[in-house]
Amino acid sequence: MSETTKTRRLWRDIHVFDGLRTLPEPMAVISEGARIVSLVPMREFDEATVEGCHDMGRGGVMTPGLVDCHTHLVFGGSRADEFEARLEGASYEEIARRGGGILSTVTATREASKEQLLELARPRLEALIADGVTTVEIKSGYGLTVEDELKMLRVARRLGEVLPVRVVTTLLGAHALPPEFKDDSDGYIDLVCREMIPAAAKEGLADAVDVFCEKIAFSVAQCERVFEAAEAHGLPIKAHAEQLSNLGGTAMAARHGALSADHIEYLDDAGIQAMRQAGSVAVILPGAFHTLRETQQPPIAALREAGVPMAVATDANPGSSPLFMPTLMLNLACTLFRLTPQEALAGMTAHGATALGLKGGGRIQEGATADLCIWDIDTPAALAYAVQPGRLRQRLFQGELTHAV
Ligand code: NIG
Ligand code: FE
Repeated sequence: MSETTKTRRLWRDIHVFDGLRTLPEPMAVISEGARIVSLVPMREFDEATVEGCHDMGRGGVMTPGLVDCHTHLVFGGSRADEFEARLEGASYEEIARRGGGILSTVTATREASKEQLLELARPRLEALIADGVTTVEIKSGYGLTVEDELKMLRVARRLGEVLPVRVVTTLLGAHALPPEFKDDSDGYIDLVCREMIPAAAKEGLADAVDVFCEKIAFSVAQCERVFEAAEAHGLPIKAHAEQLSNLGGTAMAARHGALSADHIEYLDDAGIQAMRQAGSVAVILPGAFHTLRETQQPPIAALREAGVPMAVATDANPGSSPLFMPTLMLNLACTLFRLTPQEALAGMTAHGATALGLKGGGRIQEGATADLCIWDIDTPAALAYAVQPGRLRQRLFQGELTHAV
């Protein structure tokens, strides 16, 4: 599109949460093409700039498009039976140890074709989009063979082509030990390092590499090998760590410059300091905490005090967080972990973007990408306060209106 034909849009009298804080007074915002070009307080607004702008309305709250920085949206099958078993007393770990849990999803995902996985994932992603998401991370991790992991990543990339959303992909080959490698977990890590990571890197299918560092998954030493292989291919790293116990995976990941450490209910002070030094983001996943009826709280106050940025994400997956509603996560982050509504919102905008290595993403400022949500609420905090679908008035992805009521 040439300069002169770029659509200009204007919002007046709108309360803006800019990704880090709520601006103190009502604003006028102008986007042009895919960018935000003007952000000024209403009292400084010059009506002359209205010329040629589409009037997008007045009032409400504007936030950056939500960034869901941790999901497992591509999968086959259902784990409703496991949900029932857990209600009857079985733990997530017990179910995993007897071959259910992640491995039951692996079986169903291996059996599904690319096309089937795409059709299964589409409505899940549409649910996130309808709740304001404009950037989503999608992990592999239910294939656990080179071909099945690549299949998952291809589906994830495809989702970003068929729906108006930015998809960031993560290779999570080290998610669980597949049955063919029973009693040979080092052999499986060899496969991840020597074949899976190189293949995903060669095809440009992965934007980052993740691991599950836990007693029921992989050791700190094994995860470190995965990170070294990722580094050798120029891929950033992140970790599912300290979710069920404290193994020190977060500190090791931070030493490797991890973008983020995720879950971290059992994180200790040494881990927090390592994250602070590395500039890693703490990804808080209240959906998994809630679903697993976890009681160990992530160390929110200590993270806050150390100045470690906190992101909030759905962790949408068939087992530990079958929850596909980002604004519910804002609510849970506040009610369960006592984040402030502002912290929760920053966690699903600016800090979520940082956790994905998207510098300057998840922000409303002049020059930023016009990924925007306009909500029918009075204050940004109201987004976390009530759990109420249907409040998204407008959604813009790269300046294009993709949702309007
Ligand atoms: O983020 N912790 C490990 N992985 C996922 C759960 C995946 C599953 O249960 O299917 C998580 O909680
Ligand atoms: Fe996860």
